[in-house]
Amino acid sequence: MSLKEQINISALPKHIAIIMDGNGRWAKNQGMMRAFGHENGTKSVKTVIETSVKLGVKYLTLYAFSTENWNRPKLEVNALMRLLVKSLKSELPLFHKEKVKLNVIGDIESLPSKAKKELNLALSETANYKDMVLTLALSYGSREELVKTFQEIADKVKNNLISPHLITEQVIKEHLYTKSMPDVDLLIRTSGEQRISNFLLWQIAYAELYFSPVLWPDFTAEHLYEAILNYQQRERRFGKTSEQIT
Ligand code: FPP
Repeated sequence: MSLKEQINISALPKHIAIIMDGNGRWAKNQGMMRAFGHENGTKSVKTVIETSVKLGVKYLTLYAFSTENWNRPKLEVNALMRLLVKSLKSELPLFHKEKVKLNVIGDIESLPSKAKKELNLALSETANYKDMVLTLALSYGSREELVKTFQEIADKVKNNLISPHLITEQVIKEHLYTKSMPDVDLLIRTSGEQRISNFLLWQIAYAELYFSPVLWPDFTAEHLYEAILNYQQRERRFGKTSEQIT
């Protein structure tokens, strides 16, 4: 039986988030510039979008650019922004074909105007699609998201819109960039690094973590199937005992 056939479609992770790591090392291995790795990384981006939507995954979130990535050499930052614009243009037909709704999380205002323009176009054109929500984390940092959240809630307390003892987990969730999304079920990081790197800290509280040794540009549909199969072998207890679950 193929890997794909082994997947239990009725027990898919509803929300998969991916830290796409290893583009730079992949390029270096071939004696090429880092931007070449990112360019090839966009092929894997397309593959995981197509594979996820075909399987029936409802939410796919990709860490495309972190708040810390602004500190990379200007040449690399510019190359990533150009790739973002190019990919949004080239993948819009795929979003239409597969009924993928685009979503973005992060400090979008800090992106170059060309990127914002392409994003806004893709966001509005796909706004009514329901088959899968594809979220791009762009200029995203989880700590920045939490700071913004707490500032907004503090403002509401100051203006008597909410009293401190009514601040619940649900209230905090409703102020996150991810307010309309369920928590992450499966978090994948490629390239063998085993870190979270300031990604969705609140939202991965009960996520299953899967670390793949594969560098992102080499990540294929088969690797995604492997990750999902591994997830399906885990027992998710959410703090309860094994007996309570079964
Ligand atoms: C991490 O690899 C990857 C990134 C910082 C950027 C991810 C971007 C893409 C996959 C392409 C563009 C994405 C979209 C959505 C259009 P790294 O550079 O840190 O690799 P290294 O750890 O080997 O140096």
